[in-house]
Amino acid sequence: MSSSNSSNRLSKNQLILTFILLFHLIIIGINASSSDNTNQADSSSETLSTESRKSTETASWWSFFKKIGIKKKADPKQKFIQIDKDINEIKNILVGSFVGGLSHLRPSLEICKILIERGYKVALVAPGNFTSTNYPSIKQYSTGPEHNTKELSHIYKPIFEKPYDYNSFFLEKDEADKQYLERFEVYKRSTIDFKPDLFLCDLLNNEACFDIAWKFKIPAIGISSSLNKRTFAPYKSDPIYGCHSNMEKGSFIERFKCLIIQPARFLYESRQRIISLNEKRLSVGVSPISSSLERIKNSLFLADTFFGFEIPHPVPPLYQEIGPVMQESYPPLTSKLSSFLSSHKRIMYVSFGMQVYTTQENYAILLKSFLEVIDRNIIDGIVWSLSGLEDFPTLSDDTQLETSEILNNRYTHIYVTTSLSLKELTPQVSILNHTNTKIFLTHGGVASCHESLYVGKPMLILPFASDQFSNAEKLEEQGIALKLDKMNLQVDDIVRKIELLQLDARVKINLKRMQVLTKINSKRKYRAADLIEFVMKVSQLNPNNNDVNKNVIGKKKYKKEGKESSESNETYPESIEHVTEDIYEWLLKEWVTPDTRMGFIRGKYLDVYGVVLILLFSIIWFVVWTGWSLVSFIVNSIASLFEGKLKSD
Ligand SMILES: *[C@@H]1O[C@H](CO)[C@@H](O)[C@H](O)[C@H]1NC(C)=O
Ligand SMILES: *[C@@H]1O[C@H](CO)[C@@H](O)[C@H](O)[C@H]1NC(C)=O
Ligand SMILES: *[C@@H]1O[C@H](CO)[C@@H](O)[C@H](O)[C@H]1NC(C)=O
Repeated sequence: MSSSNSSNRLSKNQLILTFILLFHLIIIGINASSSDNTNQADSSSETLSTESRKSTETASWWSFFKKIGIKKKADPKQKFIQIDKDINEIKNILVGSFVGGLSHLRPSLEICKILIERGYKVALVAPGNFTSTNYPSIKQYSTGPEHNTKELSHIYKPIFEKPYDYNSFFLEKDEADKQYLERFEVYKRSTIDFKPDLFLCDLLNNEACFDIAWKFKIPAIGISSSLNKRTFAPYKSDPIYGCHSNMEKGSFIERFKCLIIQPARFLYESRQRIISLNEKRLSVGVSPISSSLERIKNSLFLADTFFGFEIPHPVPPLYQEIGPVMQESYPPLTSKLSSFLSSHKRIMYVSFGMQVYTTQENYAILLKSFLEVIDRNIIDGIVWSLSGLEDFPTLSDDTQLETSEILNNRYTHIYVTTSLSLKELTPQVSILNHTNTKIFLTHGGVASCHESLYVGKPMLILPFASDQFSNAEKLEEQGIALKLDKMNLQVDDIVRKIELLQLDARVKINLKRMQVLTKINSKRKYRAADLIEFVMKVSQLNPNNNDVNKNVIGKKKYKKEGKESSESNETYPESIEHVTEDIYEWLLKEWVTPDTRMGFIRGKYLDVYGVVLILLFSIIWFVVWTGWSLVSFIVNSIASLFEGKLKSD
């Protein structure tokens, strides 16, 4: 009796163990598929980062499935362009961004400032005329006029004014893809002119940057404001999927939807786009890839973020969080701002960045709530930084104030300032840092969030697009922010939240915690500069380096791990492609995790786990079968005993 009991207990434990293992396996499988893909050049960055992450994610799934089915073929058309260069000259770094603007360029250029002090030369490929006012020592190759969401209103009006989901992301992506060839040409011209030794490519919609680096055989480092979708954890998702950034509390159905269904739909949507971008690639002699990150999967990736802001999860060595990148100093307050700030005791600072705008109705609701909080003395002053993109309504008759009166600063409680251009930016950090500033009403762009955390101010976040939704969620979860809904803005709700953020003692404690964390991490831009230097130095030592390759080409030295090999046949494109792949593998081999070389099954230990599962199932089956046989034997013998008794009776 007791032995059968214990075996029962044993099999129960085994069953549980099996389930755990099965679950583990599923996760590992998914992980594998996504991590294969995670390396694609995701375009994530502040304003658009969520979308970009999604795209990368989908792309990664896509590449995974594709890899299973199709074997990669070398593109016979590809050729490598070579440039003449002396190994010992000053090292040059070319920074590239598709969108440009403060939020996408500031982190990269702050890091580059450190490198310039160390003797490197830096140039920038981005729209507009950014560096002349902000970083005069950096030469810019302009890709055209500044990115202006008001001029691109056919794309951005629906993005800002309608509910945002992953389809909104594609609106932007499609526009970017249309400009691929144009951008590629600018990169090509600037590469030939500037002769970079390294590319630092912003990830958002910036495939041309990585492709040009690949074509010239120069290493590229990716940079973005988030780790999202480049690193995988099953519990990470995104509000633009209709999910949460942290799925910790999700039900089974929600978690299933957010891990499998939504990414699969996204992947399906991006499929055609990857194909048409590949056609453009072929036309400029760049080999096609199955996902945007495939090309740089073994390259270094810097994320301007930190855990506390990001959902905690394991990160492989090639992905380094180096943020928040902050400036050494910030522009001071103007005298007018300074006197407004000192003459009010509880100030709310309002800014939606330089690119975001919303509907007239929403502006009316915001204005009404501002007047309401002032009326109820919850707040006694508002500093509102406008970008000049706003269309203001006239307030309806129940208030005595004219909108124009507010906008022209004739109303003593509201101070309006404008950030029309990079030259006349509102000194945001100095406003936030003022003791009388109590709350920041923001769109939730990464840079604004970092700045607010840095000076320890609570945020009321009204997200409009891309990663702003997930930023709002993450900060709300940290207990230092509350979020608003752009599709359902209400005066009462806004007033209540402004009050709550000031009164709740927990908000103050949480803010202090986050401020300490932000400050500690803000010093990591020096580490970022060190990492970039390391990549440049090892690339000098790389036998496949483009400096060296003119000497080496034709001498059959191009082989994996930089070793000589008699079999390689460089005159053929197929072997050249292998060489390119190997450049990255060799370049950062110290940081490439072994599983990427072990293949899918071995890398994820699926073979081992599989055998363990089979063994477990066999044991369970054996136990069940033995138990069953035993029981049926006993039952049978008792039955036959009874039968015998009955018969004898
Ligand atoms: C950029 O701005 C600077 C000064 O602000 C000006 O000298 C330069 O010509 C501008 N460049 C372009 C391409 O507009
Ligand atoms: C914020 O203000 C404090 C003093 O009030 C000052 O020490 C600090 O440097 C300021 N921080 C920033 C980022 O300006
Ligand atoms: C390279 O490949 C070509 C064509 O396959 C062949 O004729 C040639 O002998 C090869 N060279 C070496 C060194 O393998």
